[in-house]
Amino acid sequence: MCIDTHSHLYGEEFATDIEEVLERARDAGIGKIFLPNINAASIEPMLSLAGKHPGFLYPMIGLHPEDLGDNWREVLAAMEQRLKEPGHPYIGVGEVGLDYYWDRSQYAEQQEALAIQVEWAYRYHLPLMIHCRSAQRELVEVLKAQIRKLATPEDPPLRGVFHCFSGSEEQARELLTFEGFKLGIGGVVTFKNCRLPEVLRKAVPLQRLVLETDAPYLAPVPYRGKRNESAYVTAVAKKLSAIYGVEVAQVYEITGKNALETFPRAL
Ligand code: NI
Repeated sequence: MCIDTHSHLYGEEFATDIEEVLERARDAGIGKIFLPNINAASIEPMLSLAGKHPGFLYPMIGLHPEDLGDNWREVLAAMEQRLKEPGHPYIGVGEVGLDYYWDRSQYAEQQEALAIQVEWAYRYHLPLMIHCRSAQRELVEVLKAQIRKLATPEDPPLRGVFHCFSGSEEQARELLTFEGFKLGIGGVVTFKNCRLPEVLRKAVPLQRLVLETDAPYLAPVPYRGKRNESAYVTAVAKKLSAIYGVEVAQVYEITGKNALETFPRAL
């Protein structure tokens, strides 16, 4: 099944034509779309959209590292309350992580917030949707420390996705040592002069990948620079089929299976 594992379709960018965007996604053969949350304000729009499309749209809960603000502890406490509700709709903890690309002013706070949300993954048995930019060393440290602290012998390995992976061969290999994790591949892989295809071919089996768009951002070629939407994930799949020398149908089958294995609540 073709699954877009990372799409912010509840955003204002889609306010006027979301139903057409979803129609185009269905027409393109996309079977499921996962919606990572961003901050406190995005929860209700996300839930309202997902509620209208059960079995197609699946929400997550989490606080994005670039959206911590000053009251992140309160925001996290309120989000965790939602995970305590029996029958909550969230399929994962996300979007969480570290981003030191533009702004390092909350260097330590970002790591603290991530550590708390990794605890949720253990406490509520949920996978993580991880955002990481210019921060892989710190990310790996936080994950390893939390796994050491929280994993019991009965626990299956921590699961999740390193979303929008676009790093080096060495970075790919390091992330893949987290055996319950997949790399999320989106529009960047189609960009001209991008080294990612070579990195994937050398270091990452298709069994460790999931498809994503990160809509409305990072539209793949030939839509580069436009608003991204879930239907465009087909361009990413086409590129992967060329990279790995397999049929597009096989890319859908393998990456779809990977996505559902990682996010079993979306089954
Ligand atoms: Ni995102």
